[in-house]
Amino acid sequence: MKIAILTVSDTRALATDETGDAIGNALPQHDVVERAIVRDERDEIEAVLRTWCDDGIADLVLTNGGTGLSPRDVTPEATRAVIDKEVPGLPEAMRAKSPTSFAYLSRQVAGIRGRVLIVNLPGSPKAAIECLQAIEDILEHAVTMAK
Ligand code: MTE
Repeated sequence: MKIAILTVSDTRALATDETGDAIGNALPQHDVVERAIVRDERDEIEAVLRTWCDDGIADLVLTNGGTGLSPRDVTPEATRAVIDKEVPGLPEAMRAKSPTSFAYLSRQVAGIRGRVLIVNLPGSPKAAIECLQAIEDILEHAVTMAK
């Protein structure tokens, strides 16, 4: 799979983006073809998601960050604004199969824009990897079906 990683954070920089690094390292059998970082701003998040999906640079876009309950957390809203179809089972699995009930505090969503699957992950490296592990057995099949 070709994977693009979008980090959503007001404070992190790409050079020190541990979560983006951890996501890439957790998927060594796949190619990370693009990475970017944007602030917790809906229009910035939506613009990158639209461009990446519509240009077809990746099969899977993994966002991280901005899924919580603070006023600046808008990644789920931005994702919902750009997807054609929601895939609720992926967030359901990430919450249910995570080793901590804090997972239920993420409002993460997943969905398809065109033929590209977008999945929101939480912003900490630990949380992002736990969520990825929760869906690792179905992620490739989901991407194949979306294509
Ligand atoms: N999911 C897992 N698997 N493990 C975690 O520790 N932390 C939660 C949640 N999801 C967590 C998790 C917490 S405490 C928050 S506030 C939300 O993710 C939102 O994180 P974000 O705003 O960085 O996206």
